[in-house]
Amino acid sequence: MPLVKPLRLAVVGFGRVGQVCAEAICLSHNLSVAAVIRRAATVGGKLPETLRHVPVFTHIGQASDVDGALICVPTHTAEESASQILQHGIPIVDCATLHGEAFHAHKDAIHKRALHHKTTAIVGAGWDPGALSVFRSWFALLAPGGKTETTHRPGVNLRHTAMARSVVGVKDALCAEVRAADGRVQRYVYVQLEQGAHVERVAEAIRADPLFLGEETHVFPMESLAWLEQEERGVVLDRRGPPGRLGHQHFVLEGRFEEAVLTAQVMLTAARALPSLEPGAYSLADVPLSMLWGEKAEKAEREWL
Ligand SMILES: NC(=O)c1ccc[n+]([C@@H]2O[C@H](COP(=O)([O-])OP(=O)(O)OC[C@H]3O[C@@H](n4cnc5c(N)ncnc54)[C@H](OP(=O)(O)O)[C@@H]3O)[C@@H](O)[C@H]2O)c1
Repeated sequence: MPLVKPLRLAVVGFGRVGQVCAEAICLSHNLSVAAVIRRAATVGGKLPETLRHVPVFTHIGQASDVDGALICVPTHTAEESASQILQHGIPIVDCATLHGEAFHAHKDAIHKRALHHKTTAIVGAGWDPGALSVFRSWFALLAPGGKTETTHRPGVNLRHTAMARSVVGVKDALCAEVRAADGRVQRYVYVQLEQGAHVERVAEAIRADPLFLGEETHVFPMESLAWLEQEERGVVLDRRGPPGRLGHQHFVLEGRFEEAVLTAQVMLTAARALPSLEPGAYSLADVPLSMLWGEKAEKAEREWL
């Protein structure tokens, strides 16, 4: 396979997301950090050791040979930052935390700028908006007419459950009680399994116990519960199709993560698609998955389709 020149990305704003972006770019074989763009007040600040070779500027015009810029500044300044960079004909990726009408207006404004300067932008490319929006959208496509509930941070109030721990095949278990939007109580039971244990059999045994019987109980196998207890952020996306002739569809996505890390991961993934796009602004849902996989598209098709 011919060697592809790494995509040179500028990181704009060196806060939580910006720092993870820069670190993650350093770990990638097909991306490199062209520059870090900071405010005048912080431009003199030291970068971590791994980034010491990276030039730091106050303006994108000072950086050379930039293929794309990751906008990691506060949401209220993201549009202005993006506009300044697009003026230089440099494509951008942003992750501004905007939803609904506000997101639509932001995308529209950036689209006009991008077209004017004949360049590209991917907006809302983080976790939420971003990857979670795509999952939400797919859940709705799979169960039309249904209802989606999003519960954030179900990881809080986790407690050990002796009952679940006594089930054959369970090494340890943690339980969280979550109240859905309609008041319904749901239980999330996180189990660390013994080697060779069968997750469905364990889940059935837990659901059949009088403690959980009659409650909506979801059982999630985990590699380590110690890690889960330390987790700060989590989400459960729950989509139920309407009851009816076509049967009952129910989808659950459960995740625990560091939001800045996920957001940086999505921004890097989006950046790899920039060279393949026509001028204009795109949301993550507008970009074909194969473009997001970049040079790994064929391998991903074989592996995941
Ligand atoms: N879509 C998602 O899921 C998601 C998730 C997390 C965050 N976000 C978004 O990502 C962006 C960055 O979040 P963060 O957590 O990294 O924020 P942060 O830690 O506050 O960092 C933002 C950085 O932007 C720069 N900055 C601060 N005020 C500025 C201003 N007035 N004008 C220009 N630059 C300014 C600063 O960097 P310098 O000192 O280097 O200039 C600051 O460290 C926000 O827009 C946030 O809403 C999205």
